[in-house]
Amino acid sequence: MRKKIVAGNWKMNTVFSEAETLVTEIADSLDDVELNGAEVILCPPFIYLEMITDVAFESNFKVGAQNIYPADSGAFTGEISPLMLKELNVEYCIVGHSERRQYFQESNEFLKKKVDALLIHGLQPIFCCGEVLPEREANQHFDVVKRQLEESLFHLAPAAFLNIIIAYEPVWAIGTGVTATKEQAQEMHAYIRQLISEKYGADAASETSILYGGSCNGKNAAELFSQPDVDGGLIGGASLKSAEFIKITTSF
Ligand code: PGA
Repeated sequence: MRKKIVAGNWKMNTVFSEAETLVTEIADSLDDVELNGAEVILCPPFIYLEMITDVAFESNFKVGAQNIYPADSGAFTGEISPLMLKELNVEYCIVGHSERRQYFQESNEFLKKKVDALLIHGLQPIFCCGEVLPEREANQHFDVVKRQLEESLFHLAPAAFLNIIIAYEPVWAIGTGVTATKEQAQEMHAYIRQLISEKYGADAASETSILYGGSCNGKNAAELFSQPDVDGGLIGGASLKSAEFIKITTSF
């Protein structure tokens, strides 16, 4: 179902005491603000998930993980399975973030397996796509995003696809302070919705949440979220500051 969403991707940040303070501040503030129907999702590091799902139980936000390994259990030292997340009441998981594609060589083919593994257990993937700067400069950004969707998502049956949330994150905008313009975001989001429509039909396309990510902050969120095909944001740096993150959640 298409929803307005603001998801915070904490990445590899905060020690436990900082994570506790941050989630407490966010939970307290969310009690006092008008979200206009938006859903707030926090994606902390794995080791804080249990503490944060406990807070979420009595608060107005949901919890996501930043990664999984696509198997239920087994000899995969250091990895975390979707089954483990499910038992902790984690409902979402980021898949295909550009940092994982870049630093951990995650291919479209491998990401497809992660998407499948999450859906089997009823977790919703927040699937990231987006081009690097040379690809945009060479006018290949539409082709790159199309290939990412085709190779990791478009094998899904129509009913399964309805559980996918997409995040368009131009890599040149992530953590750089350079945000895509509202026109650039809208253009790509409309293109993604068009691709979904061609593959799964207009109803599925209009029911899919497509988030923008990349230097989204308290100042530019309202402008980006006002675009017809931008359903919210995946927020990195600005999700680590409670007041700024709350401002983003109220930018619809
Ligand atoms: P940023 O990161 O908001 O710090 O640019 C976004 C993301 O990587 O999801």
